[in-house]
Amino acid sequence: MKEDKKKVFIRTMGCQMNVRDSEVIGWLLHKAGFKLTDNPDKADVIILNTCSVRQHAEDKVWSEVGRFKKQGLSSKRAAPIIGIVGCMAQNYKEHIFEKSQSVNFAVGPQDIDKIPDIVNTLVKDKGLFERKIWETDGLIRPEEVYHTGFYEDKDHAYVVISEGCENFCSYCVVPFVRGKLRHRGHKEIIKEIKNAIKKGITRITLLGQNVNAYQSAIAGRKAPAGFIELLKMVNAIKGLKEFSFVTSHPKDASVSLFKAMNELGKLKKYLHLPVQSGSTRILKLMNRNYKPETYLQLAEDYRKIVKNGVLTTDIIVGFPTETNEDFQETYDLVKKVRFNAAFIFKYSVRPHTEASKLVDDVPKEVKQRRHGLVLELQKKISREKSNEK
Ligand code: 5AD
Ligand code: SF4
Repeated sequence: MKEDKKKVFIRTMGCQMNVRDSEVIGWLLHKAGFKLTDNPDKADVIILNTCSVRQHAEDKVWSEVGRFKKQGLSSKRAAPIIGIVGCMAQNYKEHIFEKSQSVNFAVGPQDIDKIPDIVNTLVKDKGLFERKIWETDGLIRPEEVYHTGFYEDKDHAYVVISEGCENFCSYCVVPFVRGKLRHRGHKEIIKEIKNAIKKGITRITLLGQNVNAYQSAIAGRKAPAGFIELLKMVNAIKGLKEFSFVTSHPKDASVSLFKAMNELGKLKKYLHLPVQSGSTRILKLMNRNYKPETYLQLAEDYRKIVKNGVLTTDIIVGFPTETNEDFQETYDLVKKVRFNAAFIFKYSVRPHTEASKLVDDVPKEVKQRRHGLVLELQKKISREKSNEK
């Protein structure tokens, strides 16, 4: 009975991994008899798929929750059931309910497959269900969630190849909210891509926090399919026109990866390789496991080997103890590498992390100034690079 279907609104915040997770959640709810809506005012259930990477992202979620709550109070309809899912649920655990009285349920990223059952129970109990968090510590999601065949775009799909991260960069909350690195088996990945192609998908993006550390999850294999092997397998899939991958860590990037990138016809010549800082001392404090010289060499190799390769990066300014000299080294590195584009962030303290034990001692105005300076420089370089073509 169509009219009885409860309406669910899903808002995605944060990274591409969340975009994919929202597709999975949407499909699971659709299968369970819910109707997805683009209009939060008409929704019986509001799901915020959240990100904890920076404080700013979390602040936005709290203001959204407040807004939806107000909307619920001012309308004649029953107040919507509000759920926080994804990284923030895992980050705050039960404290999420202390932070906001309006949140009915919270589900961590590893448990998204449980959402339909949870929402069903809440809908039946009219939201009176015990306010509860569903989270586990780093368990692998059931493989089925990835075979839903539901993608937002008609011709492009995100395909998860690995989940979690165990690099423990000292500023980063990801290993604490997404758990240890787990790789999906290459057979399952290939199967998902082939099925997606049958549905009209022609372009894909392989996703993971650290994709180039990919190894086959199938134990006991003589030759585990490493990342380059996986790229070759994907390149060989009939019907696929183009693919790319994101995100990579410099410690797992290499000349052989760049050679493969250059050779594989369907692979986009695009590399997002976060550098974070140009200072040896700060990189060490960040636990990045490489020196600026190593990064510069990689960038040079990439430009030499991958014809017309695009190179982008992430940079954090204002990491604890960052001096003007440290910042200058980052600025100089940006000048030397000439990235096609860069995402520049002001450091913010994240719970659980090693860096949270350091004093966040770079004043706000200094972070702002450094951010502005490197942004201006990058804008100029980006403009020049796009004119070079
Ligand atoms: N503060 C600021 N930026 C951060 N990032 C990750 N953690 C933090 C933090 N605590 C940035 C990094 C990463 C990108 C996804 O977000 O640059 O590469
Ligand atoms: Fe965070 Fe570092 Fe892992 Fe990226 S590689 S998700 S920055 S810990």
